[in-house]
Amino acid sequence: MTMTAAATQTTERATPGQHQVPALKVSDLITEFRTRGGGVRAVDGVSFTVAPGQILSVIGESGSGKSAMLRSIIGINPPTTLIEGKIELRGRDLLAMPARERRRARGRDVSMVFQDPLTALDPVYTVEKQLTETISKHHEGISRADARTRALDLLELVQIPSPAARLKAYPSELSGGMRQRVVIAMAIAGRPQVILADEPTTALDVTVQARMIRLFRQIQQEVDAGLVVVTHDLGVAAELADDVAVMYAGRFVEYGSAAQVLTRPGHPYTEGLIEANVRAGQHRRPRAIPGAPPSLKRLPPGCAFAPRCSYSVPGCWSPPPVVDVEHNHWSLCLLAPGETRVNREEM
Ligand SMILES: Nc1ncnc2c1ncn2[C@@H]1O[C@H](COP(=O)(O)OP(=O)(O)O)[C@@H](O)[C@H]1O
Ligand SMILES: [Mg+2]
Repeated sequence: MTMTAAATQTTERATPGQHQVPALKVSDLITEFRTRGGGVRAVDGVSFTVAPGQILSVIGESGSGKSAMLRSIIGINPPTTLIEGKIELRGRDLLAMPARERRRARGRDVSMVFQDPLTALDPVYTVEKQLTETISKHHEGISRADARTRALDLLELVQIPSPAARLKAYPSELSGGMRQRVVIAMAIAGRPQVILADEPTTALDVTVQARMIRLFRQIQQEVDAGLVVVTHDLGVAAELADDVAVMYAGRFVEYGSAAQVLTRPGHPYTEGLIEANVRAGQHRRPRAIPGAPPSLKRLPPGCAFAPRCSYSVPGCWSPPPVVDVEHNHWSLCLLAPGETRVNREEM
């Protein structure tokens, strides 16, 4: 009896957050742009959950809908965009709220870090002005002196050397890495539940990238926010993420822990991404996925990847099933890994 009770307790402790309200829960999200040529469904039924302190990385080629998805969550797609499904922050569905309340919830609970720190910073204001303004927006009635102290704390948190001097600087006087640190400081200034990051390290050079990834991880754990990082760099996903989702033509085609997805991929598309991302010194050559992603206006029937897939069989022209690869790891592919797949290219 005692043994059982102890074992149960250990199990419960081993999975913190299990009964917690997720920081972000997205269900069956659809994002459709209105264009002259008709609707473009950039996000087509995506679902996922991010717990406080958890990092989800979304990978996929350009045009797969990664940015459209983040922009739908924070609400910056064009106003004519059709958005359906559920986006729950602290258990409350954003899309079901009146517009004003929705704006307030987004402003308070979600922040976004973009690829290019220059677009997020205003060139005509000092770092101090921009940071204290963000802080004041989130702490009503805070004094100027207190906002400045808080700004200094934030710059220290993002490890900017001589923060007092940097407060006086204009964005153009900072290096790319320092600017991105300021942007991260602004993103966490309001202690958001959820931080969205769209290719946050792509504009930085490789050595700065590695440092930024470590910093991001550290900070995110400190503020205990849920983090969704979109990247086309599998190295970034491997180092940063707890879970990885693979997006193709508006859908998640694979989901699992970073280790599962990136070392034991269940979907031929993921396998292709990994082959294409092989880095120098890995004794293999990168091999690009043949062909290009389909037009979102004319998706092939069934699996959208089938026309480019070297394993495809006639069954792939019908909608693919969700197949469990391992515990908490699934793939949207008829051909479960482990079964014999025939690579037509190698025949
Ligand atoms: N404002 C828009 N109006 C029309 N189409 C758009 C708009 N924004 C993005 N798209 C289209 O949606 C698809 C997904 O784009 P995006 O989300 O930027 O992909 P990713 O971030 O994965 O590269 C692309 O086909 C893109 O052309
Ligand atoms: Mg993008």
